[in-house]
Amino acid sequence: MFNNNHLSSLGDTSKMRIAVVGSGYVGLVAAACFAEIGHQVFCIDNDGAKVAALQRGETIIHEEFLPELIARHKGERLQFTTSLSEGLNGASIVFIAVGTPPCANGEADVSVLDSVCSEIARSVDGFKLVVVKSTVPVGTNKRIARVLQRYGAHPSCFRVASNPEFLREGTAVADFLYPDRIVLGCNCRRSSELLTRAYKPLLDGGYAASSSAIPAPDNAQIPARVVLTSSASAELIKHACNAFLAMKISFVNAIANICEANGADVEEVVEGMGSDQRIGSRFLKPGIGFGGSCFPKDLKALRAVAHESGYDFRLLAEVMQINEDQRANFVRKVRQALWTLKGKQLGVLGLAFKGGTDDVRESPAIAVIHRLLKEGCRVSAYDPAATARARAEFPEGAEITFTKSAYAAATDADALLVLTEWEEFAALDLQRLRAPMKQPILLDGRNLFSPQQMEKAGFTYYSVGRPEVIPELEPRDSSREAA
Ligand code: UDX
Ligand code: UDX
Repeated sequence: MFNNNHLSSLGDTSKMRIAVVGSGYVGLVAAACFAEIGHQVFCIDNDGAKVAALQRGETIIHEEFLPELIARHKGERLQFTTSLSEGLNGASIVFIAVGTPPCANGEADVSVLDSVCSEIARSVDGFKLVVVKSTVPVGTNKRIARVLQRYGAHPSCFRVASNPEFLREGTAVADFLYPDRIVLGCNCRRSSELLTRAYKPLLDGGYAASSSAIPAPDNAQIPARVVLTSSASAELIKHACNAFLAMKISFVNAIANICEANGADVEEVVEGMGSDQRIGSRFLKPGIGFGGSCFPKDLKALRAVAHESGYDFRLLAEVMQINEDQRANFVRKVRQALWTLKGKQLGVLGLAFKGGTDDVRESPAIAVIHRLLKEGCRVSAYDPAATARARAEFPEGAEITFTKSAYAAATDADALLVLTEWEEFAALDLQRLRAPMKQPILLDGRNLFSPQQMEKAGFTYYSVGRPEVIPELEPRDSSREAA
């Protein structure tokens, strides 16, 4: 591990030409942020429609601060193209951020990465550092070096390094610009020097101190630390981090189930656990489980890596199973609250896999809705950003409609379900939400509200790992109590 003292030995730290291949959730944010910290960036994607939209200045994904950064730099420091050779021209570093989806056996499919590398090999016009940002199985960097060579790149023309990305959707820009750490998996000094130069404004605090910097989150680590490792270790760090965080979530969900069975309150348990500095309170939020493009995929991929290495990582299978069970538990809760599901009208708040994003990949909200539709419910759903993407997840004729407000989703509902932790839901006017409902029953799959708040608002309220709130139907008869 390095501290940041070696920065002073770097010499010229002026702007660099950087290429980013892939303009998805990771690539686009990385490209915009590298432009923001002063570099000349080309973002390359083989999806012509996406590139055309980006060239017109459309942000294409919902991500805080991304529209501002694109508007600030597009056409100047930040350009978009479908042409790999145009994008690579003169670039000293090429970051690859294409998807690595799971194969049927859980292994990460790195074929797109291979084909991008074979194209890079054919387009090299001088020395390039090829940096893998996509999440990949340990050993991929080595393989990529072989692919580059096989397709014609001379070994003196390239190096390969790993620079995993830890950004969370919804807060991706802030995560990139104010990271806890930057992991540089480099097997030679030339690679580590180039990458350190690319990140210098984050490593010397220069970016954070600039007047136009996007605001730093509370407790931001400024300047960011560098963790310098071998490329194999960096690859494994990414998988291990995601698997560990997913494990924390499944752990707390299992604890929440025990709380429910014994009248304990998981929020209190988490407060007690999280205040132990060895444990920490983050990623201990119980709910209907984790989703997204990373945790489910990376758990499977790490399990496959372990299997290949001769180790059966059974813990990861259990993490996935608890996550799956958590969705079924929630549907069971809805059934218990409504006695029967068939024919019930349900309002749903949230479709995205988490708050702050329009991404619905592996969304627990969508999975829960599918189960409820199968049980014969009708659903009226609202999401602040993910509706367009969510529509595509349901077949023609499915009993689901999409509303333009949370209040509209609640109208005529037998129960209202909170399935995504959007902050704006927590600020809803509860009386206005309750008024048009058939029955004031709220099932909170994200513990967004407090039981006290719901009791006050007159809801029957079920959440995860906390005592339920069931308003009394009639005023207490104090004479009977006294007797
Ligand atoms: C990223 C990662 O890179 C993945 O490994 C990680 O685990 C999750 O985050 P993400 O940015 O979410 O993936 O992927 P996606 O939104 O699918 O974007 C990938 C982009 O690469 C797409 O825009 C796609 O059009 C582009 N692409 C794909 C290319 O430019 N070239 C190709 O050959 C294939
Ligand atoms: C994750 C990692 O956090 C990030 O470092 C990595 O680069 C990509 O994968 P992301 O998938 O964007 O990021 O979202 P994250 O905030 O980690 O949430 C993942 C899922 O876990 C969401 O469905 C979220 O609702 C759920 N979650 C998260 C919980 O259920 N409880 C928690 O305490 C935290």
